[in-house]
Amino acid sequence: MKWKLTRRNILLLICCIYAAEATPCISRDYGNGGTVCVCNGTYCDSTPEYEVPDVGSYIRYTSSEDGLPLSMTQGVFDDGNTSADIILRLEPDITYQRIHGFGGAMTDSAAINIKSLSEGAQENVLRSYFGEEGSEYNLVRVPIAGTDYSIRIYTYDDYDGDVSLEKFSLADEDLIYKIPLMQKALELNPRLRFFAASWTAPSWMKTNDYYLCQDGFLLEEYYQVYADYIIKFMDEYKEHGLEMWAISTGNEPVNGILPESIYNCMAWTPQGIANWVAENLGPTISRSNHSETLIFTLDDQRSRLSWFVEEMFENELAKNYTAGIAVHWYFDQMSSTNLLDETHSNYSDKFLLLTEAAIWNATADTYVSLGCWDRAEQYILDIIENLEHWVTGWVDWNLALDIDSGPAWDNNTLDASIVVNADEDEFYKQPMFYAIAHFSKFIPRESVRVELSMSQDETSVKSVAFKTPENETVLVIYNMSTEEQQVTVSDPERGNFTLQLPYKSIQTILYK
Ligand SMILES: *[C@@H]1O[C@H](CO)[C@@H](O)[C@H](O)[C@H]1NC(C)=O
Ligand SMILES: *[C@@H]1O[C@H](CO)[C@@H](O)[C@H](O)[C@H]1NC(C)=O
Ligand SMILES: *[C@@H]1O[C@H](CO)[C@@H](O)[C@H](O)[C@H]1NC(C)=O
Ligand SMILES: *[C@@H]1O[C@H](CO)[C@@H](O)[C@H](O)[C@H]1NC(C)=O
Ligand SMILES: *[C@@H]1O[C@H](CO)[C@@H](O)[C@H](O)[C@H]1NC(C)=O
Ligand SMILES: *[C@@H]1O[C@H](CO)[C@@H](O)[C@H](O)[C@H]1NC(C)=O
Ligand SMILES: *[C@@H]1O[C@H](CO)[C@@H](O)[C@H](O)[C@H]1NC(C)=O
Ligand SMILES: *[C@@H]1O[C@H](CO)[C@@H](O)[C@H](O)[C@H]1NC(C)=O
Ligand SMILES: *[C@@H]1O[C@H](CO)[C@@H](O)[C@H](O)[C@H]1NC(C)=O
Ligand SMILES: *[C@@H]1O[C@H](CO)[C@@H](O)[C@H](O)[C@H]1NC(C)=O
Repeated sequence: MKWKLTRRNILLLICCIYAAEATPCISRDYGNGGTVCVCNGTYCDSTPEYEVPDVGSYIRYTSSEDGLPLSMTQGVFDDGNTSADIILRLEPDITYQRIHGFGGAMTDSAAINIKSLSEGAQENVLRSYFGEEGSEYNLVRVPIAGTDYSIRIYTYDDYDGDVSLEKFSLADEDLIYKIPLMQKALELNPRLRFFAASWTAPSWMKTNDYYLCQDGFLLEEYYQVYADYIIKFMDEYKEHGLEMWAISTGNEPVNGILPESIYNCMAWTPQGIANWVAENLGPTISRSNHSETLIFTLDDQRSRLSWFVEEMFENELAKNYTAGIAVHWYFDQMSSTNLLDETHSNYSDKFLLLTEAAIWNATADTYVSLGCWDRAEQYILDIIENLEHWVTGWVDWNLALDIDSGPAWDNNTLDASIVVNADEDEFYKQPMFYAIAHFSKFIPRESVRVELSMSQDETSVKSVAFKTPENETVLVIYNMSTEEQQVTVSDPERGNFTLQLPYKSIQTILYK
């Protein structure tokens, strides 16, 4: 076919040259120590698919407190400076965990916020998270019915005593909001995996006959009905083309025991959950059309690894049915990473996954802090810390909130990586968004963490390294120091290069 200079071809040519370029961030400063990137129905910053250069060179993406997210530069292995202050030595033969991925949660509130935008802006949110030119998220957490980030309190069967689950039905929140967005996300990234968690059983199945925590346990007579309820949820989503890669035994079971918890939840003892998994959930999933769906447990704070999981796994059948253990990030600073290491060594066939993180600062002036770099730093440090201790992925909480941290029936007060302003048909990509992208975009599923040793105990530089399935090397480095220092990266197979990292900057470095 002869190529003619038609109007369409000229447009195609312009479009494709344009598409290969990064679309720059339109930044805005709200005075919170950093900037957001502003997107709307016709404009959004993007980072094109990258190509890792031939052996001898590397590419480097940088984001920092003063803007310019994910800006790319190239460099070469030039032997570096062997007397630099810090030497990061890659030891590719020492390998650790295999990565599952990174993502966020499609809560009711997130879906309602995204859907409050014009079609074009919705598309830009989804492309930002799931597209090739975006963060390439490959995990999405899906709540089973209501959570604290819903606009009302509900489950899928709020009819007292409906033990046959005849009246079970998905809600508008699923059919109108979450499902269409999840379908679109899956189109954008076919490698996307969904995993689900229920916050509570319907009230009538519980000892407190109530949706909230307050010592509400599942009544033993409903153990099987509740397992059937979860299968029904999976059946209905499957009819919409959405299969669950994994299912949680329930969100934050320990909070259910605490009297002060005032949102949707259900309490479990380790023995109770073990019996339910061994006798009900496990066998019911095995017999169902979802026999490939994995079960993971805990889905609660790290500090609870020590006793909850240990006691639960005294039931060997429950342990056998359980493929993984999920942790949340709240209070990570107060609990030792030894718990992750020990859990890994005690149960090395169970994966560890971080399934919820969000900034919660009750003493801040506003719950959502637009542009705040300090919050991105908290994310970065927690992601690196978890990856350094056997965790196979890291999943943010609400994919989108509004400026008042809502809508949420309980007026919860968390921040989010994307904040939606429906009045202006705009949304804001926060530093936290780019913090996660520095990992999610460059560390594909099945990458393996490899040893990256530091020449000295330098707490102001944090780093972690991976080999991708294509044998490319990915390093993520964060500089918290205000002191002048140089860092030399040393790879026994490739040579050395030396970097000067801007203050409060995150770098992702890739090479063959
Ligand atoms: C969308 O954003 C772009 C870039 O900032 C701007 O030029 C355009 O006017 C915006 N569109 C609307 C409708 O605000
Ligand atoms: C790279 O750095 C390491 C650590 O300082 C050093 O031992 C090695 O000789 C360097 N290699 C080259 C090619 O400069
Ligand atoms: C190498 O690093 C040392 C220590 O940071 C520094 O004193 C020296 O100037 C560096 N040399 C070069 C060539 O950058
Ligand atoms: C599995 O799916 C098929 C086809 O949709 C259905 O006929 C069958 O009843 C399902 N099996 C179970 C155990 O739910
Ligand atoms: C790991 O096993 C040891 C020995 O049984 C036990 O003392 C420890 O509490 C366990 N730790 C975790 C986090 O399971
Ligand atoms: C659990 O799995 C192990 C290893 O496959 C097996 O030996 C054991 O019998 C199983 N235990 C139960 C209670 O099924
Ligand atoms: C919470 O916000 C206040 C006020 O902005 C700030 O001083 C404090 O450091 C924040 N706390 C955390 C843990 O980030
Ligand atoms: C949430 O805030 C609204 C408006 O201030 C108030 O009417 C409502 O009672 C609050 N709900 C809860 C559960 O605190
Ligand atoms: C990656 O490297 C390993 C070990 O050197 C080799 O066995 C494997 O075939 C390589 N994979 C690819 C995709 O190049
Ligand atoms: C970290 O940032 C500070 C302040 O900009 C700088 O002086 C220092 O050299 C940087 N550290 C590294 C390892 O590049």
